[in-house]
Amino acid sequence: MKVAPSILSADFGNLQRDIEEICNSGCDLVHVDVMDGHFVPNLTIGPVVISAIAKAATKPLDIHLMVENNSFFVDLFAPLKPEYISFHIEEEKHPHRLIQKIRSYGIKPAIVLNPNSRPEELEYLLEFLDMVLLMSVNPGFGGQSFIDTVIPKAKKLDAMRNEINQNCLIEVDGGVSDKNIHLLKDAGVDVVVAGSYVFKHENRQTAIESLQI
Ligand code: DX5
Ligand code: ZN
Repeated sequence: MKVAPSILSADFGNLQRDIEEICNSGCDLVHVDVMDGHFVPNLTIGPVVISAIAKAATKPLDIHLMVENNSFFVDLFAPLKPEYISFHIEEEKHPHRLIQKIRSYGIKPAIVLNPNSRPEELEYLLEFLDMVLLMSVNPGFGGQSFIDTVIPKAKKLDAMRNEINQNCLIEVDGGVSDKNIHLLKDAGVDVVVAGSYVFKHENRQTAIESLQI
């Protein structure tokens, strides 16, 4: 299991220190939540802060867009060369076109599903994707409780990807901890995002390692 700590729960007064710490603690990706105050009722960070994050990070960035105008934000963040950019299916009229745009920048495209969105919506998109991100909380805030309907959903998606695109990873985001990591692993999940669990833990390296099962 790969682990992507979400910097939403980091101490923004000491962002460089916190990013260096998780990277030195063996995390696999650095998860960056971009919220625009429209698609979700919260507002986070833009290119100025994310370029500072990219400088401090020694692990690749995993940018999670929670915005209304996906295409605009893809153009804005592409120069930062993240490993992944993921966008919500609920907010995109032309997902296939956007996947192509992300890939044309040399970035791996991923699609996010809210807790109520169905994996079947991806039947004709899965072959073009490097990753699908399943939300296990409603997007917008860190520290919420895990919605366990993500488990059957991950299993369904795992079966779909085994048929359509075995290279497509499954990532889960929201309320992940040592309490549910085994369930996620058994459901076929490859990458977990963890914000409050990692950053509030007394030993962040122990927290990251407890998820790398
Ligand atoms: C929520 C974000 C998550 C969040 C996860 O909208 O997408 O990445 O930071 O935080 P925890 O792990 O605390 O639920
Ligand atoms: Zn996220």
